[in-house]
Amino acid sequence: MSYSNIIVTTENRITTIKINREKSLNALNEKTIDELYDCIESISKSEDIKVVVITGVGNKSFIAGADITMFEGKSPASIRTIILKLQDTLNKLEDLTIPVIASINGFCLGGGLELAMACDLRIASEKAIVGQPEIKLGLIPGAGGTQRLTRLVGAGRAKEMIFFGNNVDAESAKSYGLINWVASPEELEEETLKIASRLAKGPSFALNMAKEAINRGPEISLLDAIRMEAELFALCFSHEDVKEGVDAFLNKRKPNFS
Ligand code: CAA
Repeated sequence: MSYSNIIVTTENRITTIKINREKSLNALNEKTIDELYDCIESISKSEDIKVVVITGVGNKSFIAGADITMFEGKSPASIRTIILKLQDTLNKLEDLTIPVIASINGFCLGGGLELAMACDLRIASEKAIVGQPEIKLGLIPGAGGTQRLTRLVGAGRAKEMIFFGNNVDAESAKSYGLINWVASPEELEEETLKIASRLAKGPSFALNMAKEAINRGPEISLLDAIRMEAELFALCFSHEDVKEGVDAFLNKRKPNFS
């Protein structure tokens, strides 16, 4: 599939996906959702890519939400089809075994925040604005926002953000635990690359196991989740990276993971 609404580049085993609809502040229309789905599907089959970064073109917006023009005149049934495709896309993104970073370069609203929350880590420009403004359209978040936001910031803060649809600045979002790092707009790309490069050099099997344990844990009981952790911990010993990591520690040198 060739893409026009996203730009995909790979360098040093880091794939960057840029949403490319600057005139609509990178809002997600059906074509963009289809392209993203296809792109994430092909990343999931690649053994070469170690990290994914998602950002938006331009310096104003990451993703200003679902494209509101596609809601006009649609029946509940056709809206359901669109929102399920967007949910499937974000679930697929969350399920990638490699780390995914949202590099939030501006407005990150509605479906944009929902996409960012399906990523593992979030770095934002000081000028970024995040929020779930759907209530202002007479709507609720539909691409996982009521669930992922609640898990990230707690029910009280999620209700505050969703009931009022308020814009939240980057520093406040960081204090909520919604964003990991804040950078100046000029340094955002470089800081994102530093984080991505560090992860790309990390032990990818252990990163995969850590992601699996963290993502699956809340779906099961604490005891089952802790047992799952033990299984995944033991599974790390099936990979050569643990030999390298332990040997490097014992010999006081830096590890060189496969
Ligand atoms: N869908 C479609 N077009 C959008 C858009 C969106 N979500 N957000 C911005 N645009 C378009 C504007 O219509 C405008 O187009 P024109 O130049 O053709 O008029 C262009 O992008 C620039 O936007 P503004 O002129 O509004 O820029 P601004 O700086 O004054 O305001 C903004 C920026 C605060 C982000 C404002 O555009 C805005 O509020 N956008 C809507 C945000 C929103 O409600 N998002 C949630 C969508 S619903 C959703 O996402 C549901 C879900 O859970 C999946």
